[in-house]
Order: sequence, then structure tokens, then C-alpha cells
Amino acid sequence: MKYMTAEPFRIKVVEPVKKTTKEERQAWLQEAGYNAFKLKAENVYVDCITDSGTSAMSTEQWAAMMLGDESYAGCKSFYKLEESARDVFGIKNVQPTHQGRAADYIMASIYCEKGKYAVGNMHFDTFRGNAEVLGAIPVDFVIDEGLDTASSEHPFKGNLDTNKLQKLIDEKGADQICVIIITVTCNNNGGQPVSMANIKAVSEIANKHGIPVVMDSARLAENAYFIKTREEGYADKSIKEITREMFSYCETATMSSKKDGLVNIGGLFLSRNEDVFLQANQLAIVHEGFITYGGMSGRDMEALAVGLQEVCDEQYLEYRVKQVKYLGDKLKEKGIPIVEPTGGHGVYVDGRRFFPQIPQNEFPSQRLVCALYEEAGVRAVELGACAFGSKDADGNPIWPELETMRISVSRRVYTNNHLDCIAEALGDIYKKRDEYKGMKLVYEGPITSLRHFTAGFELL
Ligand code: F0G
Repeated sequence: MKYMTAEPFRIKVVEPVKKTTKEERQAWLQEAGYNAFKLKAENVYVDCITDSGTSAMSTEQWAAMMLGDESYAGCKSFYKLEESARDVFGIKNVQPTHQGRAADYIMASIYCEKGKYAVGNMHFDTFRGNAEVLGAIPVDFVIDEGLDTASSEHPFKGNLDTNKLQKLIDEKGADQICVIIITVTCNNNGGQPVSMANIKAVSEIANKHGIPVVMDSARLAENAYFIKTREEGYADKSIKEITREMFSYCETATMSSKKDGLVNIGGLFLSRNEDVFLQANQLAIVHEGFITYGGMSGRDMEALAVGLQEVCDEQYLEYRVKQVKYLGDKLKEKGIPIVEPTGGHGVYVDGRRFFPQIPQNEFPSQRLVCALYEEAGVRAVELGACAFGSKDADGNPIWPELETMRISVSRRVYTNNHLDCIAEALGDIYKKRDEYKGMKLVYEGPITSLRHFTAGFELL
């Protein structure tokens, strides 16, 4: 396979994208209150705001969609999805949901208890929101290297710090921890993987103390590929052998299928605990739909059943991880500070090191998002002062440790030529980085943890 270094697919359907002028983009940015979420997608040239729900489906997936069985109860499409998910997760009980956050809601409703801790490596926003509504206390115990964007090249920066976990158990008592959630890969700090050794170590501590372990598995196959290529003892194992081992250490798994499901919509809730699964079925009936569709159409379940298999293909995963690294390497060549090593679903640029003159309360990463759109029509997302900032009881701001701009790479969608445009533009912005000033937050919604979706800014 020596010369076969290109994409492991060819393109059959194309979706045109629009080229625009800098003047047009400046006007659209101003109209959008300098918030990339409020831009119209048609005015974006390369859209890297998320890798969620943006995958290109394969011929097999489109063909499968035609077989969708839309029966309310017991449709054929559900049984295909169930079989496919069982094969990848090694968990028997499968409840579909309309997307990941619905599975998060069900999971939080079952496991979270008022005043008790929900420990994670780094919780994703939608679980955190659900946990807070239910009165639980979400805490992030990612290893210190996971928060070090400058020097550490730890291969598994998504690992959960077992010392911090043990300390909390010793200080508060195991009965004060209602659940431990391992997110694979860890989205908030760079799409960083969690090692098998860490998953196992966390589950051993949890089992000893009777604390349930849940895995938030939106990017499960990317995590498995990193285990295969970075962790000793896994090079000769298949991706599915690795995913099944990963999930053998948890009681329950949730999944946003919009990432490694290679589909545009969908979610899953799986549990080997029969009582938990029965509760999940009840919650699904009330909030999602009957047990055998949970808010998904039959055709979407067909596409997901196929997508879960395709994502475990090693040739696909090699292409996927290498494409993200390709962008990371291009940026590094230009001296741009990124989180290293590059993770599974995007390249994260360190906003503070990029714009050292802009303090965190003037939103350096958000400024970079705007600069990148202004220069090249490329839309990235801020994961920093705006998205992760919070407030203390008196309303004083608490600034997050991580301050990044995520350039998410959609699956099977863009070529390396698109990534070259991003690298060129960011390189030029970096050359004139001293000219940029910060931003002022002029509008935020009532829920701080969700403010980035609707915030309004002005340029300083
Ligand atoms: N868990 C993780 C780790 C996620 O990254 C996401 C979504 C969810 C749960 C929620 O799933 O969107 O299907 O409801 N992440 C997207 C992102 C939105 O851009 O990172 P959902």
C-alpha cells in the first residue's frame, strides 16, 4: 500500500461552497455580533465550527436509508442498529435517542443525585448542564498534563487523574460520588484520548467503592485508534476488540452518534445494568419516543447501523487521524501555538499564546475566531473565556484554565486543499498578530454555561 496515501474514498456527490470577499465577511461578522454561531452557514467557505452531524455519508449508508422501516414499534431498522451497536460496544441493551444530549439527560436523570459529585475527566457541556439542573456537582479531574497546552506531549492527555479521584473519595466518602464519567476522546482539551490502562484503573477504584462508571463515547473509534497506535500491547488488536475492551469497564455508555456514528443525527444509551436500562426505556418513552426508535426515524437508524461499522475500519481511521495531524503540522511549521499532540477531531490553537497582548477577559480565542473568518471565510469555534467561563455566587467571573480556538475537522468532508487554506490564513494572521486588540462581551443569555451560543461582542 506504499503509494496509497490519499483519501480512502472518491467523491460522488458534491456540495458547492461560496467564495466571498473580505468586505462582505466583515459586514456579516458585525451583523452576527462577532459570534460565529450567528453567521449564516452559506456565507462560510470552510466550516470547522464542529465535527458534529457534519459527516459525509457513504454509498452504503445512503443505500441503507432506503430500507428504513418506519413502524412505530419493533421496526427492522432498530434491530439492525441494535446488532451493530452490540458488536461495537459489547453491551446488550441498546436504547436509541434523538442525539447525544438526550442520552446525557437520561443518564443524568438516572445517576445524578442532589449535592453529590459527578466526577469526570472533562464533562461535556450538555452533561454538565443536566447535572447542574439536577443539583449534582460536576467536577473535572483530567490529569495535569491535559491542561498544559505549552509543553506536555503526553500521549493520553484525556486521562482521568486517579489520585484526584482517590483523594475525593478519602475526603468526602465514596457515597458522596454518584457517578464517574469518562469522555472518550476528551473533547474539551483537544480531542485527547484516554488510555485503556486509565479506563481500567478508574473502573477498579470505582468498583472497589461501588461507584458506577459511565462512558461518554461520541468519538469512541478515534479513541480506540489512538490506543492501538500509542499504547503498548494493542498494535495487533482490531478496533472492535479495543472498543469492546474499553466498554467492558463501564456499566453504561452514552453516545452522540453525530460524531463517530458517521451520521447527521442520532444518539445511543447502552447499559449492562438491567434496572438502569428499564429506567432509561421509561424516560425515552416520555421524552424521546418508543423504545425501538427513541426519536430517530427508521432510515436514520439504518444509516447509523452502517456508520458504526464503517467508523471501525482501520484504513478510514488512519486517514482520519492523519488528516487532522496534517493540519496541526502545517500550523506548527508556521510557529502557531497548538495543543500537542493533535487529537482526533480537530486542531486546538492556544488563544493566549497566539495573542499574548489580549487578556482573558477580552476573549483572545474569540478574537482569533473572528480574525480567521474575516480573512478566509473559515469558521472555527471558541473554547475558552466565553464558552467555559463561569461565575461565582456573587456573579464574579471565573476564567477557565484552557483558552483555545478549536478547528474541528468534519469526517470525510474536506480535502487537504481546504486545510491548506486554513493554514495559510492563520499563518498570515500570526505574522500580524501584534495588530489585534481584544473584544468586549456586550450580551449574554441567562445561563452562563450556554452563553457562547447567543453572546454578542464588540471589537475593542
Ligand atoms: N458528549 C460529547 C463528548 C460531545 O462532544 C457532544 C457534542 C455531546 C455529548 C452532545 O451530543 O450534540 O449529539 O447532542 N458535541 C458537539 C461539539 C456539539 O461541537 O463538540 P449532541
